[in-house]
Amino acid sequence: MVNETEKGLSRGLTNYGDKDFSLYLRRSFAKAMGFSGESLEKPMIGIADTSSSYNNCHRNVPEQIEAVKRGVLAAGGLPMVFPTISLAETFLHPTSMMYRNLMSMDTEEMITAQPMDAVVAIGGCDKTVPAQLMGALSANRPAIQLITGPMMTARHGGERLGACTDCRRFWAMYRAGELGDEEIVAVESRLATTAGTCPVMGTASTMACIAETMGMALPGTAAIPAVHADRLRAAEETGKQAVRIAAADLSPDKIVTEKSVENALRVLLAIGGSTNGIIHLTAIAGRAGVRISLDRLNEISDETPVLVNLKPSGDHYMEDFFSGGGLGAVLREIKHLLHLDTMTVTGETLGVRLEQDPGYIDPDIVRPFAEPHYPLGGLVALFGSLAPNGAILKRAAADDALFESEGRAVVFTSPADLAERIDDPDLHVTPEDFIVLQNAGPKSGYGMPECGYLPIPGKLARAGVKDMVRISDARMSGTAYGTIILHVSPEAADGGPLALVRNGDHIRLSVSERRFDLLVPEEELAERRAQWKAVDAEPRGYAKLYQDHVLQAEDGCDFDFLRAV
Ligand code: FES
Repeated sequence: MVNETEKGLSRGLTNYGDKDFSLYLRRSFAKAMGFSGESLEKPMIGIADTSSSYNNCHRNVPEQIEAVKRGVLAAGGLPMVFPTISLAETFLHPTSMMYRNLMSMDTEEMITAQPMDAVVAIGGCDKTVPAQLMGALSANRPAIQLITGPMMTARHGGERLGACTDCRRFWAMYRAGELGDEEIVAVESRLATTAGTCPVMGTASTMACIAETMGMALPGTAAIPAVHADRLRAAEETGKQAVRIAAADLSPDKIVTEKSVENALRVLLAIGGSTNGIIHLTAIAGRAGVRISLDRLNEISDETPVLVNLKPSGDHYMEDFFSGGGLGAVLREIKHLLHLDTMTVTGETLGVRLEQDPGYIDPDIVRPFAEPHYPLGGLVALFGSLAPNGAILKRAAADDALFESEGRAVVFTSPADLAERIDDPDLHVTPEDFIVLQNAGPKSGYGMPECGYLPIPGKLARAGVKDMVRISDARMSGTAYGTIILHVSPEAADGGPLALVRNGDHIRLSVSERRFDLLVPEEELAERRAQWKAVDAEPRGYAKLYQDHVLQAEDGCDFDFLRAV
């Protein structure tokens, strides 16, 4: 057990059965790194280093670490950099989502096992910020989140490009035959051209806004571009603040509460945030003992309009959001709906923070509450016979002409089946059909990949079809768009109703009623249920731990033994 009354180097001594010997030995080995006795007396501030050659979004972490160290030293602390695993979206198989819980465990264990009085967690790419917040909450040592920041946009011809909404737009054009091989290669080199995270309101930007709203990151820091000098000033200030929260023992349990989680949920809707945001926020809240209900999400969604005009549901990019007012402008517009007495890592409440000068606000980027970008919240939860425990639709990025519709199911039994047959010229599919993907959920062995943005079948895409109803137990990138129903729970691999859908079945969608139902008689479903068999898989190592313990989307896909609810 860690003795929480000890501080600095004396915290959590290695157990040799003699406490004084343990400290003497630790000091001696610390001195091998050139630290003076005086330095070793200072508050120790851990800095979680998530730089990696496999993570383009964290390319600026080394220079951020230098700036954090400056801040820690200036405030009288001793900066101690330590590595944790790093997760980059496009470099991980089967998907980064599978490793979020592993990174959260790594973060928690390294915070509690090593002597530190506070920690600065540097993250940015989609899964890293949720993992660090989950780990920090479970460790409950004073912690502050530093964001790597969004990348800058680039140009192709006369157009601005930003990963990855434009990645998908250009790829859809290429699939439809509107773009040649040479041009798609040119676009590939221009989609992501600087350090930082995807520059739209995708998952990384959403989670940065959530971290700041909950009070775990410094005010005004969520949207600063990765390459902007303000990003380094924010890092330096974060280092200073880490020393202060160590002295004040301002632990995350005083910051992440039911009220701050509800504020974050509201902001998720007001910014038109990623569908992944609801899974991650549920997981983070769960570590603090707070449960998020999808019914509450629907209530909040109906009273919180989308104010931020950013891709994928709007027109602009993160650098515009930063210069057009940033998260502070959003918080002020929805101030009347927020809990203002929530504590932040500055030691001040959210209400006090919002009394400060708002600076310049561009009303085209952060719309006034009375003239929103979209009149309702971006996300809505659906229930029904196909998803008794819920599913998610990003209505702000969907075609509302499809919101009240009935269609014939065209079923794919796995992501592999989808990849093999979606472009088959003989696929029997029309634009009115509903495309259904099974076995892509948390326990499927695919690790709930971001393949819920099911491609429009090749022959329909070439005929100009832009959107169709698509249903799965997978996730989708926060940068994607379309009438896409995700996170269907219980998932098919766990025997949920989604597993029982067959080609030609009819499905009815009603967004106004928050329902989607499989129109198949119960006797027929009972027969199919009796025949259903779980996929026979024998994973080993971490994959086995994952399969045995991962929870469904409504519990944030956390492990059952890590949640505090
Ligand atoms: Fe890292 Fe998009 S790939 S944020």
